[in-house]
Amino acid sequence: MKSTLVVLVLAVAASSAAIAQTPPPYQPGMGDLMVMIVQPRHLKLGLAGQARNWDYADYAQHELEESLEAVEKHIPTWRNLDIAQLMASTVKQPLEEIEKAVKARNAAAFDAAYRQLTEACNACHRSTNLPAIVIKVPDGSAFPNQEFRVTRP
Ligand code: HEC
Repeated sequence: MKSTLVVLVLAVAASSAAIAQTPPPYQPGMGDLMVMIVQPRHLKLGLAGQARNWDYADYAQHELEESLEAVEKHIPTWRNLDIAQLMASTVKQPLEEIEKAVKARNAAAFDAAYRQLTEACNACHRSTNLPAIVIKVPDGSAFPNQEFRVTRP
């Protein structure tokens, strides 16, 4: 009888310990979001534009825009810096230029706006005192399992 009680007490203690150890919801930091959602989408948009794949570029432009909005929403302030304000003064305009170029299917305008966007990524890195983080126009794909060229007529 006594041993049953001991087992029961131990079982209750073990289960409450398990509850106490439930990790809090994962909250990715700025560096995580940049690497997880911003960097791959910047790359995919670049590859789409280089392939003049305007339908996919249109999709990729909106996805990148949403990723940057998610960063702004989840991390409004980073080391006392106003992230929304920095987004507005760096990437916002080149993203709009890219959207226009894609709609117009204008390759030269896309290339110019994409270079501007990439420079804007770096402008924010400099403003946040991270000049060592240098983004460039992609010279290769990190996604060997995805087709970026137009495959339909
Ligand atoms: C509003 C400012 C801002 C903009 C705009 C911005 N970044 Fe960042 N980025 C940061 C900050 C701040 C960090 C450092 C975060 C940390 O260390 O926690 C960072 C880090 C990174 C990193 C991580 C570096 C590494 O090697 O781990 C990458 C990659 C990156 N950014 C890519 C981009 C790309 C691509 C763009 C443009 C599409 C961009 N960023 C636009 C602020 C910005």
